[in-house]
Amino acid sequence: MWKNKFHITPSHGLLNDPNGLIYWKGEYHLFYQWNPNSCEHKTKHWAHLKSKDLIDWETLPVALEPKDWFDKNGCYSGSAIEKDGILHLFYTGNVKNDGKRESYQCLAISKDGINFEKKGPVIHNKNIPKEYTRHFRDPKIFIKNGIYKMVLGAQRVNLTGTIVVFTSQDLITWSFEKEILDGDFGFMSECPDFIEDGENAALLFSPQGVEAIGDFYNNRYQSGYVIRELEEIHKNSFVELDRGFEFYAPQTFKDEFDKNVLIGWMGMPEELEHPTVKSENWIHSLTLPRTLEIKKDKIIQKPHINLQKLRKERVQLENIVVDKELDLSKFNISGETYELIINFEKIESEIKILLRKGKEEYTSFAYNPIIKKATLNRNYSGAGYKGIRTCSLNELNNVRIFMDRSSVEIFLNDGEEVFTANIYPKKDSLGIEIMSEMLFTIPKIEFFKI
Ligand code: FRU
Repeated sequence: MWKNKFHITPSHGLLNDPNGLIYWKGEYHLFYQWNPNSCEHKTKHWAHLKSKDLIDWETLPVALEPKDWFDKNGCYSGSAIEKDGILHLFYTGNVKNDGKRESYQCLAISKDGINFEKKGPVIHNKNIPKEYTRHFRDPKIFIKNGIYKMVLGAQRVNLTGTIVVFTSQDLITWSFEKEILDGDFGFMSECPDFIEDGENAALLFSPQGVEAIGDFYNNRYQSGYVIRELEEIHKNSFVELDRGFEFYAPQTFKDEFDKNVLIGWMGMPEELEHPTVKSENWIHSLTLPRTLEIKKDKIIQKPHINLQKLRKERVQLENIVVDKELDLSKFNISGETYELIINFEKIESEIKILLRKGKEEYTSFAYNPIIKKATLNRNYSGAGYKGIRTCSLNELNNVRIFMDRSSVEIFLNDGEEVFTANIYPKKDSLGIEIMSEMLFTIPKIEFFKI
């Protein structure tokens, strides 16, 4: 009952990071870390799907299985790039011999985008520079100034996290270039990525071991970015990409419009107590695709334009007055899977939107204009993890909410901030209610069934 309807979700077993995202020969290819054998972090395969529009996905045979000497304990995360019409996948072969970790950066190629031929390691475990441990993984490849670059998550021998760059002319021979992160980013940085948007650039990564400060870094591990050039050592500060709960290890790719798009893992390492494990034998989904733009030193994330294809019946309301509380069910605005857009005019007192509201449960999104904070509260959402996440926001002009069977993504102010969370309400908790301390008018509400 919680299997998401329009998010990528495994048929069974455990899903984690999105891998190998690429628009290739007119189709999107998407892979993800998949353990088909149980809902634990073991035996990682690369599951494979493709799509013409990022909406309707066709499941293809598993692309990579952990069965060779260089990847026998897991085909870990990595990326895809096209060269001479051939699809190249780079991934980390995780190996444990007598409990000792080895890490191989491996290549697999495909001409038809279905069958992959493993070529083995391009960076051998024994060639990892001596400054780093074997926590050395997640190759993301891209071209910069005509040279192939590979960014990798790494751990220094003093057990602090960093990112390193390798370069190559041909995708086969790789040389270590340098470390590109200074400062203290916990004990490991996973899944690095790099985007350029016009004059601007950002380095994305998922650090582990960063301590919480106030509203920041409250999840087990973080995922965010620094606005900077690739090799310009950290000068701006680290910003979290998502303000909610389950969001980690995202990866970017260029879509058919040559825009940067991001898909993240709607999960968190080491958090396996989701109710779907026992009742439905699966765990975790991917986020919706988000188009990225860098504006004023910030990454703006908008739901990908193709998501409009999900829209079914529409209800639109204008100039709706909220007198303390407004139950939207009476306008046929309620349900399990939907997109809901609310445009606001100046908000003068705290407002709340209660989602998946049932007899005893709801998920609440609130904005308080006095303290200028937005809050997602899932303490009353139903089964699963609980908690509250808050972020500062100068004003709230609009919210765009994507509700699926067990997840919610809330985009604020056309992508200025996003809150992502897994929630596990009862099947009949379908209500949507708006509450306000003061009487106020909402200029426009748009609702689409999905
Ligand atoms: C991030 C991560 C990656 C690794 C993969 C293994 O969630 O730990 O660093 O490659 O998952 O599944």
